[in-house]
Amino acid sequence: MKRIIAKTPRTILRHFALKDAAAFFELNADPEVLRYTGDAPFKSVSQAREFIRNYRHYQIYGYGRWSIILSSTKEYMGFCGLNFSVKNHEVDLGFRLPRRFWGQGFATETGFAALREGFSNYGLEKIVGRAMAENKASLHVLEKLGMTFEKEFEEENMRWVQMSLRREDFGVFYE
Ligand SMILES: CC(C)(COP(=O)(O)OP(=O)(O)OC[C@H]1O[C@@H](n2cnc3c(N)ncnc32)[C@H](O)[C@@H]1OP(=O)(O)O)[C@@H](O)C(=O)NCCC(=O)NCCS
Repeated sequence: MKRIIAKTPRTILRHFALKDAAAFFELNADPEVLRYTGDAPFKSVSQAREFIRNYRHYQIYGYGRWSIILSSTKEYMGFCGLNFSVKNHEVDLGFRLPRRFWGQGFATETGFAALREGFSNYGLEKIVGRAMAENKASLHVLEKLGMTFEKEFEEENMRWVQMSLRREDFGVFYE
């Protein structure tokens, strides 16, 4: 199975690897990073390693969330990618970066590559993005990627916004 998925001007997107475990643990250990995600931190590096070991998305769907590697230093810088929701039968785009990398356009850069992979290599018709209504940075990234508002919904007492983009509108936005 091909492990390197895409190269962007500054990064490489590749499959999760066991060597990412310590940095993945650290990423999720920052409460500011998890604030709008609804996720709990890993309890230990070995729990992060187990998560990676048990991650089956690539085998089942081809795509998945991918680790982001900074090309210049080979540093791990979080993840970006696609996730099939069994509950909604929809594919969503997600991203999560350590705080030191925020505000430099990395989510937009890697998110674009993930959308391109989804539409061109995996034949997806539509990709959604979900963010808590207060997660303005994330919603702004989804907008910059060409997504438009689809709906608002409530889950576990939180307001969420769902945006989406269809394949036929993907190229148009970037022309
Ligand atoms: C959301 C996240 C991935 C964004 O990553 P990033 O690399 O900083 O995003 P970018 O730099 O590509 O773009 C961020 C945009 O949001 C804007 N922004 C940042 N904070 C904002 C805020 N509070 N309100 C409005 N806009 C905001 C930035 O100015 C930028 O827009 P611009 O390019 O027009 O100036 C990052 O903050 C993160 O990892 N957060 C924690 C995890 C998370 O919440 N993930 C999303 C779950 S749905």
